[in-house]
Order: sequence, then structure tokens, then C-alpha cells
Amino acid sequence: MTCKRIVELGARAYPIHIGPDLLPKLGAHCAEEKMGSKTLIVSDDHVDALYGGVAEESLRSVGLVTARVTVPAGEPSKSHDPLIRIYHAALDAGLERSSSIVALGGGVVGDLAGFAAATYLRGIRLIQVPTSLLAMVDSAVGGKTGINLPQGKNLIGAFYQPSMVLADTATLRTLPPREFCAGLAEVVKYGVIADAGLFDALEGKTPEILMNDDALLEDIICRSCEIKADVVRDDEREGGVRAILNFGHTLGHAIEQVSGYGRYLHGEAIAMGMVYAARLSERELAFPAKDTERLIRLLKALRLPVTMPDLSWPALMEAMRHDKKKTGGTVGFVLAQSLGAVRFGCALPETLLNEVWEQNRDTGESRAP
Ligand code: GLY
Repeated sequence: MTCKRIVELGARAYPIHIGPDLLPKLGAHCAEEKMGSKTLIVSDDHVDALYGGVAEESLRSVGLVTARVTVPAGEPSKSHDPLIRIYHAALDAGLERSSSIVALGGGVVGDLAGFAAATYLRGIRLIQVPTSLLAMVDSAVGGKTGINLPQGKNLIGAFYQPSMVLADTATLRTLPPREFCAGLAEVVKYGVIADAGLFDALEGKTPEILMNDDALLEDIICRSCEIKADVVRDDEREGGVRAILNFGHTLGHAIEQVSGYGRYLHGEAIAMGMVYAARLSERELAFPAKDTERLIRLLKALRLPVTMPDLSWPALMEAMRHDKKKTGGTVGFVLAQSLGAVRFGCALPETLLNEVWEQNRDTGESRAP
């Protein structure tokens, strides 16, 4: 079984195909979308070794002239030198305005190759082929592309929508379990922000999810993409409602930054950030405490950290203030009113932020990795 969702953006609308064993059909899907005749597959060295050959063969089987370029796996590749390497590979492969870049990999590759596609010859087609759960449910959909600077993450970038997203759920079988669980944090987020039924389903099927049940994974990835596609349709460039996708991210981003990017995976930091946001929601919007407890139980069952990390609170506060400055100081916390309904742009007094942090430091829960 496969499922298909559309990101409705008028002339720039695009399909998301989700299901097992789709990678060998990449070429056929590209042919349907009437791509130009040349493609460059951008991947990292780990993913390329596993799937680069299958992707290339599939593209060649429909007559596309295809080249491959790889960057080292990991966040440091979201930077200037690997980007220039991709431009050179594109020139060597003779990519023209009608050609495409295929981003085959997780979030780093998707953002990096996406930005290369947005800027090479002022923009060529982009096909996102996410191979991590996080990329399938979040970063490959919605058009955020970019690279980091030494001064901070995602400081250079563009909103640039792909022409197609193809998520082969069979590739999740080779994803390290810790990364798989980190991706699930974003799925839980969709339950909190938009779909109490999805939240219930995650609670009821945790063992099956952790055992990589194909049909179930396809369902939850489809529903996650559908929610994200609706939000992006309503607010492509994050002028308003798209901010709800940042539930748990205000503290989560600060945790990643203060811990030096590497101690926690993005989804792990977001799990802690969601617990904090839920506690704030109890105080500010009367979010039921029993639902925060459900959130904590679910995250723990999905092997995600739920207690506040052992990091300097003043440093975390400073990082959150800095994050606010980047967005013009206008975006506050995303808080939950009930499971499935949130409000964005909630400005909160520092005294409340401090108090909730202190209350959640010593709950006796298991510590984060
Ligand atoms: N990852 C949040 C967004 O795409 O807006």
C-alpha cells in the first residue's frame, strides 16, 4: 500500500508519496512529473552506500542522465564547503535550468541539497527523497532549505518548495533506533497541535510502532504529512499559523544550542521542550495536567527524554531570547489548550518561565542521555 498527499500551493502544488519500497519507483514518479533529462543525486556517505545505487538505477531506467555526489554524514555538512561541492558537481554533470536535484537522505541532506537547488542557476527542480523519519514527517515537506553559519543554525536559506516528495518507508529499517525514536517526537507533536485522534493512536500502538510495523508507520507518516501540508498551505512563509509547528521548539532549540549540538538529537530536545511547553500551558491556558502526564508517558514509552536536562538555566534563557530576536521578537511560545488545539505567539513573563523550569527539574523522572 502507498498513500499520496498533496501540498496545495496553487501552481507550485506538489505530491508526497509515502509507502514501502518506493525508491525503485523513483524514476517512474519523476517521469510522471515530466522532469528535465538530467539529475544530480545528493546524499551523505552513509545513505549513498545503502540507497544511492537503487536511486540512480531507477532514474536511469526511465532515461534520465544521472550523477551522484556525497557529503559526509552529520550536521557539519550543512555548511558552505559542502554546498560549493554540490554546485561543482552540478556543473560537472551539466545540469541546466530544466534539470533536477534529488535530495536523498535525512534532514541535513534535504536542507543542504534543497538550498543548492534553490540557488543553482537561480533555481532548478528539487525532489525530496527523505530516508529518516524526521525528514519524512517534517523537514522534507514545506520548503525550508538552508545551511548553518558558525554563528548559528539555518542563518542562510530560502523557502523553496520541492516538485515532489517520495518517502520510502522501507528505508526506515536501516535507521538507527535512537534516530527513529527522535523522529517520533515530531509525530507526537502533530498529535498535540492538531489531532487528538493521532495522539490516542500513538498511545495505543506504541509497541507496534517501535517494531516498525509497515502499515502503521505509513498511516502515521501520512497523517503527519497531511497536517504539515495543511499548515504550509495556509502559511507558507511562517507569517502566522506555521509557528504552531514549533510546539516544544522554543526550549528545544535552546537545549540543542546550549548542549553544543551533539548531546541530544533534535527530536530528543523537542521531547523535553514539549513537556516544558505543556507545563506552561497548564498555567497559562488551563491545559489539563492529566494530559501533560499522558504526554510524558507517551514520550517515555517512545524512549524519549522527558525531564529537564542538566544545563544552565540562564544560558537556556539567553538562547531563547536570541531565537526570538531572529524572528523580530514577535514569536512567543506555542501553548496547548487541549490535545489537538494550540495557540501561538504567547508572550510569557520570565517569572513563570523560571518557576516552571524549577518545578520540572526534580521530578525524579529518568534523566536524558
Ligand atoms: N519544521 C518546522 C517548519 O517546517 O516550519
